[in-house]
Amino acid sequence: MIKNIILVLISFLSLTLSGQKFEGLAPTPPMGWNSWNWFGCDVSEKLIKEIAEAIVQSGMQEAGYQYIVVDDCWQISRDSAGNILADPQRFPSGIKSLVDYVHSRRLKFGIYSCAGRKTCQKRPGSRGYEFQDARQYAAWGVDYLKFDWCNTTGQNAEESYRTMSDAIYAAGRPMLFSICDWGYSKPWTWAAKVGHLWRTTDDILDCWDCGDTRQNIGFVKILDKQAGLEKFAGPDHWNDPDMLQVGNSGLTISEGRAHFALWCLLAAPLMAGNDVRNMKKETKEILTNKELIDINQDKLGIQGYKVRDDEDLEVWMKPLSDGSKAVVMFNRGEIAKEIICYWPEIDLYSNIKARVRDLYLHSDLGVFDVKYKALIPAHDVAALRIYPVK
Ligand code: GAL
Repeated sequence: MIKNIILVLISFLSLTLSGQKFEGLAPTPPMGWNSWNWFGCDVSEKLIKEIAEAIVQSGMQEAGYQYIVVDDCWQISRDSAGNILADPQRFPSGIKSLVDYVHSRRLKFGIYSCAGRKTCQKRPGSRGYEFQDARQYAAWGVDYLKFDWCNTTGQNAEESYRTMSDAIYAAGRPMLFSICDWGYSKPWTWAAKVGHLWRTTDDILDCWDCGDTRQNIGFVKILDKQAGLEKFAGPDHWNDPDMLQVGNSGLTISEGRAHFALWCLLAAPLMAGNDVRNMKKETKEILTNKELIDINQDKLGIQGYKVRDDEDLEVWMKPLSDGSKAVVMFNRGEIAKEIICYWPEIDLYSNIKARVRDLYLHSDLGVFDVKYKALIPAHDVAALRIYPVK
């Protein structure tokens, strides 16, 4: 009898701690769009259809954006059998029909829930309903789940996320699993086998450098918190420094350029967070920059890192599969300054020549000895690809 109980306990524990996930779904960082940064709770089936259409028409789909993720506030309650219900005012045709629509545009559909009993916006969370919710998402045809961490007092993050990961796996439909505990449990130390991406910080705000540490913060502060995490990322398990604020009102065009180039270099998931139905030409050009997206999607899957830090002037580097190096020279200061990048800093021999290509200008800048230097405007970058010349 006791032996049987122990066996049942062991199998229960090994199931809850197994954290099975679908492998091979994110060989390169996921790309898509998420409703939260710009629309918050103002989500509806009308909005999501219009966004899907705009992703197709704007060339974003062709550039690689494929997941359309509806964040918090789509859900309203549970029925008497515990099934999660969408807000009927905002989603009158139901989630299944919306998913079918998104699929008909050859895009994928993502949804949001929370490991606690309630989501961050006080909608029903998945605590206690993980397997039932996962089955429901699978029946709707969902391809991606973002799973948040509000209202989880007393819960263990690793255990809670493993439970949801197992629930998705048991439901049988491959889904990307996006872990969103804001980096509090250091998910990079345990989540590679549980999810495909994990948030590393609190929420990114629509601003350059605002906010306090350990709370929602602007792009530059988020960037600083990525240092040292590069060793934990790779194909199918990515650090997620949060969604893009490119094109939202708090960043200038040059700040948006810097934000996008650095997220590409970090091998960050590229989830646009703006109103893609009404984008400025410059925003669209940034978000669909094929040469930068190629850096982000490079098959080696190495997360780039900072190789020089001279106060406001920084050099970041990402090794690429063809032997070239992506380099971002970043001026976070208030006046234009010259930045120099020496070959040994980016793992090239000092005695070689290298061809330097500008990824925003889309042109070759020439072949250089030992170093490349450029005047970088305030709050801006030079985004480069540097090819050793044989
Ligand atoms: C936060 C999360 C955001 C967004 C929001 C919705 O916890 O980090 O990205 O999902 O909840 O309420």
